[in-house]
Amino acid sequence: MDKLDTGDKGKFYEQLNAYLVGLLKEEKYWLAALANAAALLYTLLPDINWAGFYLYREGELMLGPFQGKPACTRIALGKGVCGTAADTRQIQLVEDVNLFPGHIVCDPASRSEIVIPIIKDNRLIGVLDIDSPHIARFDGQDAKGLSSFVEVLNRYIDWPEEFK
Ligand code: SME
Repeated sequence: MDKLDTGDKGKFYEQLNAYLVGLLKEEKYWLAALANAAALLYTLLPDINWAGFYLYREGELMLGPFQGKPACTRIALGKGVCGTAADTRQIQLVEDVNLFPGHIVCDPASRSEIVIPIIKDNRLIGVLDIDSPHIARFDGQDAKGLSSFVEVLNRYIDWPEEFK
């Protein structure tokens, strides 16, 4: 898979999300679909060191499909960047993880992070989490593009009952 042109973030995310639609048209089963979605992000997004999902299960976030170094498996709601995104249902755009109170360190190389909550029909499904080894790697355009990425996932995937 070729790297996409990153000169224009708007265009980059249009192409990335078109790739995702192509993958989801082939496969809608959540586990296979999220595994490929994580691989897509990790392969195509420049300057990142982790991309993946935490899924809301039995009252906490559980590690789901991802690419990058092994990560903590369970995160309580309200804890760390992921737990905060899940609890508040708000995107967390963290320019410097060392300045985020309670940030959970998985890979010490991570310096900035973006977490997008996955909400379908007002139900918390989980979060998409992406880490970068660079300070302030993510901006509002990433938040917009990755929100569309999550919307595409929600459009195609029938989430199982266990995520609640
Ligand atoms: N840093 C996250 C934990 C998950 S890892 O980055 C993969 C957090 O504070 O929630």
